[in-house]
Amino acid sequence: MTLNRQTIITLALAAVATAAHAAQPTPPYLDDTKTIEERVEDALGRMTLDEKIAMIHAQSKFSTPGCPRLGIPEIWMSDGPHGVRMEFTWDEWTHAGWTNDSCTAMPALTCLAATFNPELAGRYGNVVGEEARFRNKDIILGPGVNIYRTPLSGRNFEYMGEDPLLASRMVVPYIKSLQSNGVAACMKHFALNNQEHDRDNVNVTVDERALNELYLPAFRAGVIDGGVWSVMGSYNKYKGTYCTHNDTLVNQILKKEWGFDGAFITDWGSAHDTREAALNGLDIEMGSWTNGLTWGKSNAYNEYYMAEPLKALVRSGEISEEAVNEKVRRVLRLCYRTNMNRHRPWGSMHTTEHTAAALEVAREGIVLLKNDKSFLPLRTGRKLAVIGENAVKCLTIGGGSSELKPKVEISPLEGLRKRFGEENILFSLGYASGEPNYSNELPSPYDADSLMTAAIETAKLADAVVFIGGLNKNYRQDCEGEDRATYSLPFGQGELIARLSEVNPNIAVVIVSGNAVAMPWAEKAHAIVQSWYLGSMGGEALADILSGDINPSGKLPFSIPFRLEDCAAHSFGETAYPGVNGNVNYEEGLLVGYRWHDTRGIKARYPFGHGLSYTTFAYSDLRTDRRQYAPTDTITVTVRLRNSGKAAGAETVQFYAAQKNPRLPRPAKELKAFSKIRLEPGESRDVEVRIPVANLAYYNDTLRRWVVDADEFAIHAGSSSTDLRGKASFKISESSLAAR
Ligand code: BGC
Repeated sequence: MTLNRQTIITLALAAVATAAHAAQPTPPYLDDTKTIEERVEDALGRMTLDEKIAMIHAQSKFSTPGCPRLGIPEIWMSDGPHGVRMEFTWDEWTHAGWTNDSCTAMPALTCLAATFNPELAGRYGNVVGEEARFRNKDIILGPGVNIYRTPLSGRNFEYMGEDPLLASRMVVPYIKSLQSNGVAACMKHFALNNQEHDRDNVNVTVDERALNELYLPAFRAGVIDGGVWSVMGSYNKYKGTYCTHNDTLVNQILKKEWGFDGAFITDWGSAHDTREAALNGLDIEMGSWTNGLTWGKSNAYNEYYMAEPLKALVRSGEISEEAVNEKVRRVLRLCYRTNMNRHRPWGSMHTTEHTAAALEVAREGIVLLKNDKSFLPLRTGRKLAVIGENAVKCLTIGGGSSELKPKVEISPLEGLRKRFGEENILFSLGYASGEPNYSNELPSPYDADSLMTAAIETAKLADAVVFIGGLNKNYRQDCEGEDRATYSLPFGQGELIARLSEVNPNIAVVIVSGNAVAMPWAEKAHAIVQSWYLGSMGGEALADILSGDINPSGKLPFSIPFRLEDCAAHSFGETAYPGVNGNVNYEEGLLVGYRWHDTRGIKARYPFGHGLSYTTFAYSDLRTDRRQYAPTDTITVTVRLRNSGKAAGAETVQFYAAQKNPRLPRPAKELKAFSKIRLEPGESRDVEVRIPVANLAYYNDTLRRWVVDADEFAIHAGSSSTDLRGKASFKISESSLAAR
């Protein structure tokens, strides 16, 4: 090949330019061989005040702008926590209507908690992480770990139940796996978002012991053991100050005590004051000028508390630039962990592994509450009347910010038709709700009496009835922004179940919800199944359980009281729930959930940790490795578990500790460990857990330290918090401050 003169000159010039470019040293903030801290400081040193201010507040509903001049990318966020949410328009709460923004919908977090399987929590986090990465998201707004205090709270379905140990054990693998994709988790809502009613305003009063022993441990685990890269503030107040810029919670506890080095982000619109935001640990402000859910003032980003108003305070010298620098450092650190990490994986979408994980979490989370005379599994070849709106309602939409656009969602009716044969399934709606809506209850378009009559006629034609109802994600059901209106089943379902059982007593009831519901009809049902918002593969998982193809192994992550008044938060009147004049006082203190039921001797209809199987398990020979321990020891507890029935199955063995004479009052017992074991019929295994003595500590609010008393303790092994199958006693030799 011959080259003409012009080509030779062009090539030569290109070579010179390339060499010159190559000779430019890589600036330290872009140099992968430097540490993240070195890169952060270098980037920060190059930024103007305007650029810094831009990095700490939103530029759109779900993004911050990065620093374009330096090539520091925008940060893109998405809800969370059950999958990657559909896209929104730039500046409004309007779905963008893209066609490539679907996801694998994972079961809601209550279902994950009900699996009592931390390994599944890891798989769950990985699915969300891979799909977030594929969809170019840098932060997933989840998981939620607020403690389940009342069954009326609209957002319990996004949280992990009433026990701090369970929530802590489940949140850590979720965060780690999600973040292994170079996508940050944003653990929420810090702290004390235990009700939705008046959430933008309510001031929580809670004693120090309950705060430390119940409401903070899962957050602490997410920070210390999970290494979470971002945390979201809650809307409510604590000690009179909004949690989003609360010195005690954010500066003292989250950042100083726990050493959180990531970015602390508002909930959408939860900042209320520039000085407090500047000084009390807020790092990124999102979504102000909205109420978090509905339309707000458009394109108001310059007016955010952490935008022009903060810049003015820095310019006037009232707030130091160093306060802003500290926020930018944290945002940059998050960038280097996510969108500036050149080695992060590429992610993937809708893979068979994702579908399999969604299915498995759903299967393992479904809880068999009652099964008289082995009514379940349902025998094949019989006519089944499937009745209830939740057999067909799309339950991945609604609920508020955790809504999803799943690529696939198998309804219970589809799942049952496939499993039992179309010809064996009759269906009738039975009752109907209105369209999902976050701020209003919309009326159903159907006539309730006609629906009930049709359902009763259908029930008469079948050998057995499977009622599939519960709550849904409409306003005041399981939905953010407001609490449930009542503990009872809505839309006349209670009466419907009673009427159906009169014409066909062979009835099983499946409750789809993220919350406990009143079950005055429980005696009428032969079997009761607590199902959840099960995501993409829900119908298949439910059919697996009802048909017996999969043996149920879920356990309740919260107690189901007989009556609302039996629940601690509802035992003290309005001051404890829903609050009076914007104040809610957690008068029950430490006694939340089973801690209340056990200590006060108030029986729950179904206790925390309860869940039946199609097989039975025998416990024997519970023992500790010693009779006495020193404060720094670890207790090894062992129990023999045997599958004493005829089907293979899994049991979650729960270990509860009780102290004999505590110096400060303690709940009757507390969950200290659990282990899920799968056994073939007749198979036995020793189940062993290790409990550091330090984990027997309680929080001494005078000393402001965790303390273990020299005392006698008992460990119970149980199949639920009330079905205890063995007890071993031991002593702690001396009192000590626990290292934690
Ligand atoms: C919710 C958050 C959510 C945010 C963004 C708020 O209304 O409380 O949990 O992450 O909106 O959608």
